[in-house]
Amino acid sequence: MAEPLTPHTPGSRQPVSLWEHVLRHFMDAVIVLGADSSVVFFNQASEELTRTPRAKVLGRLCEEVFPESPYLVEMFRRARDLRQSETRGEQKLRIGDREVTVRTTCVPLFDHEGEIDGALIVVQDLSYQQALEERANRNQTLARLGTLVAGLAHEVRNPLAGIKGAAQLLAHRLPDDESLREYTDVISHETDRLSALVEDLLQLGAPAKPTLEPINVHKVLQHVLDVLRAENDPDRLDIQCHFDPSLPDILADSGQLEQVFLNLAKNAIDAMRENCTPPIILKIFTKMETDYHILRATEGAQNYLRVEINDTGPGIDPDILDHVFEPFYTTKSNGTGLGLAIAQRIVSDHGGALRAFRAKPHGTKMWVSLPIYREPQETTQ
Ligand SMILES: Nc1ncnc2c1ncn2[C@@H]1O[C@H](COP(=O)(O)OP(=O)(O)O)[C@@H](O)[C@H]1O
Ligand SMILES: [Mg+2]
Repeated sequence: MAEPLTPHTPGSRQPVSLWEHVLRHFMDAVIVLGADSSVVFFNQASEELTRTPRAKVLGRLCEEVFPESPYLVEMFRRARDLRQSETRGEQKLRIGDREVTVRTTCVPLFDHEGEIDGALIVVQDLSYQQALEERANRNQTLARLGTLVAGLAHEVRNPLAGIKGAAQLLAHRLPDDESLREYTDVISHETDRLSALVEDLLQLGAPAKPTLEPINVHKVLQHVLDVLRAENDPDRLDIQCHFDPSLPDILADSGQLEQVFLNLAKNAIDAMRENCTPPIILKIFTKMETDYHILRATEGAQNYLRVEINDTGPGIDPDILDHVFEPFYTTKSNGTGLGLAIAQRIVSDHGGALRAFRAKPHGTKMWVSLPIYREPQETTQ
């Protein structure tokens, strides 16, 4: 290698060369192996990708660090023996029980005499990019379907209002016969349900443009808490909030965001109600976004905040995790399967991302990442 690498000792004050500084903060995972395949450099993105601190891998052989991904050491040997770089597209990198789709490049490194001195491995995480592409495709299908559904919903809206009105009139004029009143109540109740469904369909298919203004996310969450506390017995539902009061404003439509958080919280409560003994605990966190997948998704230095809604229900099965955001996907007998689809649409209209994770040992974590409001810059002539 042209220049020896500074060993990574946390907190060490050794001078760091410019290129090493760049590699440390490079967006993709960069791993440098010595001639014997031992890890001599492991940047921050490598730690995030493998969820392993560098102190645990430095000095260990590649095959020990990645026993489930033998292709890495195979690429290293090929680069060393053939003295050539190699790139492999869509590869599965396995780390413990996780599997990440990656693109891997391995470049041999030479010393001053031209002898092989090790290899540089760059691992690019493709999973987030794939998820974005899938989401874009899904949004396109949804947009087409949405126009059709919205047209239909619009046609159904007025007759429904007519039925509801007629049922109410009928109820007033009926003699005091309880059994007949029951029928008009059923008509009213069922038209209400249908109207709610129609409104959801319209919101999904032809959503209102958000009215954006700089707001504090905690103000929106406070409204959500008021609604949840009004609807739930405090002995049965304990809502624990961990808010970071220093969070800056976001540019958002407070009504739409309130709906997002309410949908997520209600799903969490549904999941726990079926499986946990009361009081059930709903945890809501707010913090600055640190996930580099989100931070790298936009051009420029855009910062995000994150609202986390966590429950201790049974969690979402990994097989259906991708489907829960699809319209009409529901596992509930009285569900519409539109809540998460609408929530995702609203969040992406705000330039953010909504993601679902399994919590350990069980439960679900819903993360809403939203861009921070940036004051318009005054232009100086
Ligand atoms: N917090 C959660 N825990 C477990 N499953 C969940 C959670 N949130 C959503 N789901 C699953 O996703 C499905 C879709 O949710 P949603 O779109 O809100 O529709 P609905 O609530 O009408 O079923 C639910 O039926 C449920 O199976
Ligand atoms: Mg729901």
